[in-house]
Amino acid sequence: MGRPKRDWILILDFGSQYNQLIARRVRESQVYCELHPYNISLNKIRRWKPRGIILSGGPASVYEPDAPLPDAGIYELGIPILGICYGQQVMAHQLGGKVKGSSKREYGHARLSVDEPVALFEGFDGSADVWMSHGDAITELPPGFKRVAYTANAPYAAIATAGFAAGSIQTAKPNASEPRLAGIQFHPEVVHTPRGAEMLSNFVHKVCGCGRDWTMQNFLARQTEAIRKTVGPSGRVLCAVSGGVDSTVGAMLLHHAIGERAVPVFVNNGLLRAGEADEVQARFAEILRVPLVYVDATDRFLSALSGVKSPERKRKIIGRVFCEVFRDEAARLSEHGKIDWLMQGTIYPDVIESRSVKGPSATIKSHHNVGGMLKQTLNLKLIEPFRELFKDEIRALGHELGIDAALVGRHPFPGPGLAVRLIGACTRKDLEILRRADAIVIEEIRKAGLYDRIGQAFAVLLPVKSVGVMGDSRSYERVCAVRAVETVDFMTADWFDMPRPVLRAISNRIINEVREINRVVYDISSKPPSTIEWE
Ligand code: XMP
Repeated sequence: MGRPKRDWILILDFGSQYNQLIARRVRESQVYCELHPYNISLNKIRRWKPRGIILSGGPASVYEPDAPLPDAGIYELGIPILGICYGQQVMAHQLGGKVKGSSKREYGHARLSVDEPVALFEGFDGSADVWMSHGDAITELPPGFKRVAYTANAPYAAIATAGFAAGSIQTAKPNASEPRLAGIQFHPEVVHTPRGAEMLSNFVHKVCGCGRDWTMQNFLARQTEAIRKTVGPSGRVLCAVSGGVDSTVGAMLLHHAIGERAVPVFVNNGLLRAGEADEVQARFAEILRVPLVYVDATDRFLSALSGVKSPERKRKIIGRVFCEVFRDEAARLSEHGKIDWLMQGTIYPDVIESRSVKGPSATIKSHHNVGGMLKQTLNLKLIEPFRELFKDEIRALGHELGIDAALVGRHPFPGPGLAVRLIGACTRKDLEILRRADAIVIEEIRKAGLYDRIGQAFAVLLPVKSVGVMGDSRSYERVCAVRAVETVDFMTADWFDMPRPVLRAISNRIINEVREINRVVYDISSKPPSTIEWE
């Protein structure tokens, strides 16, 4: 693996659900880091030369027969190591200490008292609130370690070797003879440890001596060079643009690097929200000043979807037609110069997921990997400029590229579009009804100043009719469901506690303005067990 020369931190993954958070905290302190399975070889680590190693938490117990343990040679490399929770137990266990299953699990807030001035807690006044989540705990320290902090229930809440002493580390000592090892029982990466980010920052800066070179400004400069080198002086890149943040930032990045040899293509599949096709085109033309190829494939998509009710079939058809439209468009565009590359918006969580120690998580819906299908259909080489980035870093990069905040903060919209919000078959008429209702939901939420507090909000059109009264006569019309959720990562979500006046305004307007709907309901299910979309 070609690895740029820079200061970086290796995080060994023992399977904790919080691991991506550790990586994000390290990056927030402007230091690059990568997560790798706990059992990567010592040789690789030697070659990769990280400035520091973090052993993550994990669900195992060190005494289990198949307990995940790293190569014990890591402690001899002269690289500073910080073990977190299970990572702390692993370190103690491998270095001759003792770990025991404690009689009760400790879970929740604890007050940490610091005994010894170590670099990890520099800037703290001797105590901190921390978050605990563990069963096992250390009962006997390994040789060379001292207790440096404790809580009421955890006598060894933080342990360290002398190399971690505060103030003794001004600059990095790549081959320091004194081992620089520390372990903490609590989780510094979660928000419930309010100053945890500072602790991790102390580790990467004060102990490992990393510089602050992971900024989106630097990334932009480096990635621009990398793209130019990869694509060569004449290569052309096809960028599929959906109107969302990732693909827009991707197209802008490519355009920044290779100008008009980056060809952004936006396909209208007839399943977009009200005004969306116009907005995307206007944004590229007026704000971003990048020429966008616009393809109206509404007829192709809607005729392929005609009469199809099954959610999975709808998704599959949309994916297939999307690839066909792109294949035709790529052939047409190649008449002006061959297209060699396809930009794909793979992001770092996808990379981690695909090589996680737990294996890729089960797919509940086929969020068809359109990128993968496209690559197969088009037979182009792949360029993935975001493989290293987390979602929030892509947003920051967008900011760096001058992309307006309104786009960067937009709610996500699924690839299959309104098809998964129109229960049953997609007809032009129903799509139009849904568009009008959906636009009202978003308008009212914006008007109430709630848009940025909500993760995703939309209308769903049900294939159900109900009876109502309109003036003096009886009506028999459709039901519309309104969904709004709060979420951090879209993996779990809670329904948004929408203020009544906003619900009232949404309902009144939909029923008054969309004649085909006479009943509005609010979706109060969380994920799991429900999902965010209805199909
Ligand atoms: P669910 O419904 O699975 O949605 O809770 C989680 C997030 O994923 C989006 N979503 C999709 N995005 N293609 C996409 O690009 C899809 O097929 C798809 N299905 C769901 C959904 O909008 C939410 O943000």
